[in-house]
Amino acid sequence: MKILNYGSLNIDHVYRMPAFVKAGETLSAADCALHTGGKGLNQSVALARAGAEIYHGGKIGADGIDLKTFLENAGVNCDYLRIDSTVPTGHAIIQVVGSGENCIIIYGGTNSCVTTDEIDETLSHFDAGDCLLLQNEISNVNYLIHRAHEKGMTVVLNPSPITAALTEYDGLALLDWMIVNQGEAETLAGVSGIDAPDVLEALHAKYPGSNIVMTLGKYGALCLADGKTYTGRTYTYGKRVDTTGAGDTFTGYFIAGMAEGRSVAESMDLAGRAAGLSITKAGAAESIPDMATVKSAVPID
Ligand code: RIB
Repeated sequence: MKILNYGSLNIDHVYRMPAFVKAGETLSAADCALHTGGKGLNQSVALARAGAEIYHGGKIGADGIDLKTFLENAGVNCDYLRIDSTVPTGHAIIQVVGSGENCIIIYGGTNSCVTTDEIDETLSHFDAGDCLLLQNEISNVNYLIHRAHEKGMTVVLNPSPITAALTEYDGLALLDWMIVNQGEAETLAGVSGIDAPDVLEALHAKYPGSNIVMTLGKYGALCLADGKTYTGRTYTYGKRVDTTGAGDTFTGYFIAGMAEGRSVAESMDLAGRAAGLSITKAGAAESIPDMATVKSAVPID
Protein backbone atom coordinates (compact mmCIF):
# COMPACT_ATOMS: atom_id res chain seq x y z
CA MET A 1 0.00 0.00 0.00
CA LYS A 2 1.31 3.42 -0.98
CA ILE A 3 0.43 6.48 1.11
CA LEU A 4 -0.11 9.83 -0.63
CA ASN A 5 -0.23 12.87 1.63
CA TYR A 6 -1.64 15.78 -0.40
CA GLY A 7 -0.93 18.68 1.92
CA SER A 8 0.52 22.04 2.81
CA LEU A 9 4.14 23.09 3.04
CA ASN A 10 4.94 26.23 5.03
CA ILE A 11 7.93 28.31 5.95
CA ASP A 12 7.32 28.81 9.69
CA HIS A 13 8.36 32.16 11.17
CA VAL A 14 8.53 31.37 14.86
CA TYR A 15 8.59 34.11 17.49
CA ARG A 16 9.30 33.22 21.13
CA MET A 17 7.05 35.56 23.10
CA PRO A 18 6.65 36.59 26.76
CA ALA A 19 2.87 36.25 26.18
CA PHE A 20 0.48 36.01 23.22
CA VAL A 21 -0.12 39.43 21.65
CA LYS A 22 -3.57 40.85 22.48
CA ALA A 23 -5.68 43.18 20.32
CA GLY A 24 -4.13 46.64 20.19
CA GLU A 25 -0.93 45.50 21.90
CA THR A 26 2.69 45.55 20.67
CA LEU A 27 5.15 43.09 22.19
CA SER A 28 8.83 42.35 21.51
CA ALA A 29 9.81 38.77 20.69
CA ALA A 30 12.66 37.30 22.70
CA ASP A 31 13.80 35.33 19.68
CA CYS A 32 12.83 34.72 16.04
CA ALA A 33 13.68 31.73 13.86
CA LEU A 34 12.69 30.15 10.55
CA HIS A 35 11.52 26.53 10.71
CA THR A 36 10.18 23.91 8.31
CA GLY A 37 6.43 23.36 8.66
CA GLY A 38 2.95 23.10 7.26
CA LYS A 39 0.60 20.45 8.60
CA GLY A 40 1.01 18.45 5.40
CA LEU A 41 4.81 18.52 5.38
CA ASN A 42 4.98 17.74 9.11
CA GLN A 43 2.74 14.71 8.71
CA SER A 44 4.78 13.41 5.76
CA VAL A 45 7.95 13.76 7.81
CA ALA A 46 6.33 11.92 10.73
CA LEU A 47 5.23 9.10 8.41
CA ALA A 48 8.71 8.81 6.90
CA ARG A 49 10.44 8.88 10.29
CA ALA A 50 8.03 6.19 11.46
CA GLY A 51 9.22 4.05 8.54
CA ALA A 52 6.31 4.40 6.08
CA GLU A 53 6.56 4.65 2.27
CA ILE A 54 5.16 8.14 1.78
CA TYR A 55 4.57 10.35 -1.27
CA HIS A 56 3.92 14.07 -0.77
CA GLY A 57 1.61 15.92 -3.18
CA GLY A 58 1.41 19.68 -3.05
CA LYS A 59 2.89 22.91 -4.31
CA ILE A 60 5.69 25.31 -3.38
CA GLY A 61 7.06 28.52 -4.89
CA ALA A 62 10.65 29.19 -5.91
CA ASP A 63 11.27 30.38 -2.35
CA GLY A 64 10.27 27.00 -0.94
CA ILE A 65 12.93 24.72 -2.42
CA ASP A 66 14.41 24.14 1.06
CA LEU A 67 11.10 22.54 2.07
CA LYS A 68 11.43 20.03 -0.77
CA THR A 69 15.02 19.30 0.22
CA PHE A 70 13.91 18.78 3.82
CA LEU A 71 11.24 16.28 2.75
CA GLU A 72 13.67 14.39 0.49
CA ASN A 73 16.26 14.20 3.26
CA ALA A 74 13.58 12.78 5.54
CA GLY A 75 12.89 10.02 2.99
CA VAL A 76 9.66 11.42 1.50
CA ASN A 77 9.05 10.88 -2.24
CA CYS A 78 8.49 14.31 -3.85
CA ASP A 79 7.61 13.20 -7.40
CA TYR A 80 4.18 14.88 -7.05
CA LEU A 81 5.38 18.10 -5.42
CA ARG A 82 4.94 20.90 -7.96
CA ILE A 83 6.78 24.22 -8.13
CA ASP A 84 5.05 27.43 -9.24
CA SER A 85 7.58 30.24 -9.31
CA THR A 86 4.87 32.88 -9.83
CA VAL A 87 3.36 32.43 -6.35
CA PRO A 88 5.07 32.63 -2.93
CA THR A 89 5.28 29.49 -0.82
CA GLY A 90 2.81 29.22 2.05
CA HIS A 91 4.02 30.51 5.38
CA ALA A 92 3.03 30.64 9.01
CA ILE A 93 3.56 33.25 11.72
CA ILE A 94 3.82 31.36 15.00
CA GLN A 95 3.97 32.79 18.52
CA VAL A 96 5.35 30.38 21.13
CA VAL A 97 5.16 31.26 24.84
CA GLY A 98 7.06 29.88 27.84
CA SER A 99 4.57 27.04 28.42
CA GLY A 100 5.30 25.78 24.89
CA GLU A 101 1.79 26.65 23.65
CA ASN A 102 1.40 28.44 20.33
CA CYS A 103 -0.82 30.72 18.23
CA ILE A 104 -0.59 30.35 14.45
CA ILE A 105 -1.49 32.55 11.47
CA ILE A 106 -1.22 30.84 8.09
CA TYR A 107 -0.93 32.42 4.66
CA GLY A 108 -1.86 29.90 1.95
CA GLY A 109 0.39 31.02 -0.93
CA THR A 110 1.03 28.03 -3.22
CA ASN A 111 -0.98 25.77 -0.87
CA SER A 112 -4.10 27.64 -2.01
CA CYS A 113 -3.26 27.09 -5.70
CA VAL A 114 -3.60 23.29 -5.91
CA THR A 115 -5.81 22.67 -8.96
CA THR A 116 -8.19 19.85 -9.88
CA ASP A 117 -6.06 19.03 -12.96
CA GLU A 118 -2.99 18.58 -10.77
CA ILE A 119 -5.01 16.40 -8.42
CA ASP A 120 -6.28 14.20 -11.26
CA GLU A 121 -2.76 13.78 -12.62
CA THR A 122 -1.34 12.92 -9.21
CA LEU A 123 -4.11 10.47 -8.30
CA SER A 124 -3.57 8.65 -11.63
CA HIS A 125 -0.39 7.23 -10.04
CA PHE A 126 -2.34 5.60 -7.17
CA ASP A 127 -4.75 2.68 -7.03
CA ALA A 128 -7.49 1.07 -5.00
CA GLY A 129 -6.10 0.05 -1.63
CA ASP A 130 -3.63 2.93 -1.46
CA CYS A 131 -4.17 5.60 1.18
CA LEU A 132 -4.77 9.35 0.80
CA LEU A 133 -4.06 11.60 3.79
CA LEU A 134 -5.39 15.17 3.87
CA GLN A 135 -5.42 18.18 6.16
CA ASN A 136 -7.27 21.45 5.53
CA GLU A 137 -4.50 23.81 4.42
CA ILE A 138 -4.72 23.35 0.63
CA SER A 139 -7.35 24.12 -2.01
CA ASN A 140 -9.79 21.49 -3.36
CA VAL A 141 -9.85 19.18 -0.34
CA ASN A 142 -13.46 18.14 -0.99
CA TYR A 143 -12.57 17.31 -4.61
CA LEU A 144 -9.64 15.20 -3.43
CA ILE A 145 -11.86 13.23 -1.06
CA HIS A 146 -14.35 12.44 -3.84
CA ARG A 147 -11.80 11.43 -6.47
CA ALA A 148 -9.78 9.25 -4.09
CA HIS A 149 -12.93 7.59 -2.74
CA GLU A 150 -14.07 6.81 -6.32
CA LYS A 151 -10.73 5.10 -6.94
CA GLY A 152 -11.18 2.91 -3.88
CA MET A 153 -8.39 4.56 -1.89
CA THR A 154 -8.60 4.71 1.90
CA VAL A 155 -9.18 8.37 2.71
CA VAL A 156 -7.98 9.88 6.00
CA LEU A 157 -8.74 13.50 6.93
CA ASN A 158 -7.17 15.55 9.66
CA PRO A 159 -9.52 18.57 9.36
CA SER A 160 -7.02 21.13 10.65
CA PRO A 161 -7.46 24.03 10.74
CA ILE A 162 -11.22 23.68 10.85
CA THR A 163 -13.15 26.20 8.76
CA ALA A 164 -16.82 26.92 8.15
CA ALA A 165 -16.39 25.80 4.54
CA LEU A 166 -14.99 22.43 5.58
CA THR A 167 -17.99 21.66 7.82
CA GLU A 168 -20.16 21.82 4.67
CA TYR A 169 -18.08 19.37 2.57
CA ASP A 170 -20.27 16.46 1.42
CA GLY A 171 -17.06 14.42 1.13
CA LEU A 172 -16.89 14.13 4.92
CA ALA A 173 -19.47 11.36 4.70
CA LEU A 174 -17.07 9.35 2.50
CA LEU A 175 -14.09 9.33 4.86
CA ASP A 176 -12.59 6.10 6.14
CA TRP A 177 -10.79 7.78 9.03
CA MET A 178 -10.93 11.19 10.72
CA ILE A 179 -8.16 12.30 13.07
CA VAL A 180 -9.48 15.31 15.00
CA ASN A 181 -8.84 17.21 18.20
CA GLN A 182 -11.72 17.71 20.61
CA GLY A 183 -12.51 21.25 19.40
CA GLU A 184 -12.64 20.10 15.78
CA ALA A 185 -14.84 17.15 16.77
CA GLU A 186 -17.25 19.45 18.61
CA THR A 187 -17.50 21.79 15.62
CA LEU A 188 -18.05 18.93 13.16
CA ALA A 189 -20.59 17.21 15.40
CA GLY A 190 -22.32 20.48 16.33
CA VAL A 191 -22.05 19.84 20.08
CA SER A 192 -20.47 21.62 23.06
CA GLY A 193 -20.30 21.34 26.84
CA ILE A 194 -20.32 17.54 26.89
CA ASP A 195 -17.65 15.02 27.95
CA ALA A 196 -15.04 13.81 25.46
CA PRO A 197 -16.50 10.28 25.03
CA ASP A 198 -19.89 11.83 24.26
CA VAL A 199 -18.30 14.17 21.69
CA LEU A 200 -16.74 11.14 20.00
CA GLU A 201 -20.10 9.32 19.98
CA ALA A 202 -21.84 12.41 18.56
CA LEU A 203 -19.28 12.74 15.76
CA HIS A 204 -19.56 9.05 14.95
CA ALA A 205 -23.36 9.30 14.89
CA LYS A 206 -23.02 12.06 12.27
CA TYR A 207 -20.38 10.20 10.21
CA PRO A 208 -21.07 6.52 10.91
CA GLY A 209 -18.92 5.32 7.99
CA SER A 210 -15.74 6.78 9.47
CA ASN A 211 -13.42 5.46 12.14
CA ILE A 212 -12.38 8.37 14.37
CA VAL A 213 -9.33 9.21 16.45
CA MET A 214 -9.88 12.20 18.76
CA THR A 215 -6.81 13.71 20.44
CA LEU A 216 -7.26 15.33 23.84
CA GLY A 217 -3.98 17.20 24.42
CA LYS A 218 -2.55 16.29 27.82
CA TYR A 219 -5.42 13.84 28.39
CA GLY A 220 -4.31 11.53 25.59
CA ALA A 221 -6.62 10.31 22.85
CA LEU A 222 -9.77 8.29 22.22
CA CYS A 223 -10.55 6.20 19.18
CA LEU A 224 -13.73 4.62 17.88
CA ALA A 225 -12.90 2.09 15.19
CA ASP A 226 -15.00 -0.75 13.83
CA GLY A 227 -17.37 -0.50 16.79
CA LYS A 228 -14.64 -0.64 19.45
CA THR A 229 -13.41 2.17 21.68
CA TYR A 230 -9.72 2.64 22.50
CA THR A 231 -7.94 4.95 24.94
CA GLY A 232 -4.44 6.35 24.38
CA ARG A 233 -2.24 8.01 26.99
CA THR A 234 0.30 10.82 26.83
CA TYR A 235 3.99 10.44 27.61
CA THR A 236 6.27 13.07 29.18
CA TYR A 237 9.98 13.08 28.33
CA GLY A 238 11.09 16.45 29.72
CA LYS A 239 10.35 20.16 29.60
CA ARG A 240 7.63 21.20 27.16
CA VAL A 241 9.50 23.55 24.79
CA ASP A 242 7.21 23.92 21.75
CA THR A 243 3.94 22.09 21.04
CA THR A 244 3.92 23.12 17.35
CA GLY A 245 3.55 20.00 15.19
CA ALA A 246 2.67 17.62 18.06
CA GLY A 247 -0.71 16.83 16.49
CA ASP A 248 0.97 16.27 13.12
CA THR A 249 3.49 13.92 14.72
CA PHE A 250 0.63 11.95 16.31
CA THR A 251 -1.25 11.74 13.01
CA GLY A 252 1.77 10.61 10.97
CA TYR A 253 2.81 7.98 13.50
CA PHE A 254 -0.73 6.66 13.92
CA ILE A 255 -1.22 6.19 10.17
CA ALA A 256 2.24 4.67 9.76
CA GLY A 257 1.44 2.17 12.52
CA MET A 258 -1.87 1.18 10.98
CA ALA A 259 -0.33 0.92 7.49
CA GLU A 260 2.32 -1.39 8.86
CA GLY A 261 -0.38 -3.68 10.27
CA ARG A 262 -0.06 -2.71 13.93
CA SER A 263 -3.18 -2.76 16.08
CA VAL A 264 -5.15 0.42 16.78
CA ALA A 265 -4.00 0.36 20.41
CA GLU A 266 -0.33 -0.06 19.46
CA SER A 267 -0.55 2.63 16.78
CA MET A 268 -2.11 5.06 19.28
CA ASP A 269 0.58 4.27 21.82
CA LEU A 270 3.43 4.86 19.36
CA ALA A 271 1.76 8.08 18.21
CA GLY A 272 1.43 9.29 21.81
CA ARG A 273 5.10 8.58 22.48
CA ALA A 274 6.25 10.34 19.29
CA ALA A 275 4.09 13.39 20.03
CA GLY A 276 5.41 13.51 23.60
CA LEU A 277 8.99 13.56 22.31
CA SER A 278 8.24 16.19 19.66
CA ILE A 279 7.24 18.84 22.19
CA THR A 280 10.63 18.71 23.93
CA LYS A 281 12.25 20.45 20.93
CA ALA A 282 11.68 23.71 19.04
CA GLY A 283 10.09 23.80 15.60
CA ALA A 284 7.54 21.61 13.86
CA ALA A 285 9.10 19.19 11.35
CA GLU A 286 12.54 19.45 12.97
CA SER A 287 11.18 18.20 16.28
CA ILE A 288 9.64 14.96 14.94
CA PRO A 289 11.56 11.93 16.28
CA ASP A 290 12.47 8.83 14.28
CA MET A 291 11.18 5.38 15.18
CA ALA A 292 14.44 4.28 16.83
CA THR A 293 14.24 7.26 19.18
CA VAL A 294 10.55 6.63 19.90
CA LYS A 295 11.28 3.01 20.79
CA SER A 296 14.31 3.71 22.96
CA ALA A 297 13.28 6.91 24.78
CA VAL A 298 12.24 6.42 28.41
CA PRO A 299 9.37 8.64 29.56
CA ILE A 300 9.54 10.32 32.96
CA ASP A 301 5.75 10.16 33.27
O1 RIB B 1 0.55 21.99 12.89
C1 RIB B 1 1.62 22.90 12.92
C2 RIB B 1 1.73 23.61 11.61
O2 RIB B 1 0.58 24.42 11.43
C3 RIB B 1 2.87 24.57 11.50
O3 RIB B 1 4.05 23.94 11.04
C4 RIB B 1 2.35 25.66 10.59
O4 RIB B 1 3.00 25.74 9.38
C5 RIB B 1 0.86 25.38 10.42
O5 RIB B 1 0.58 24.77 9.22
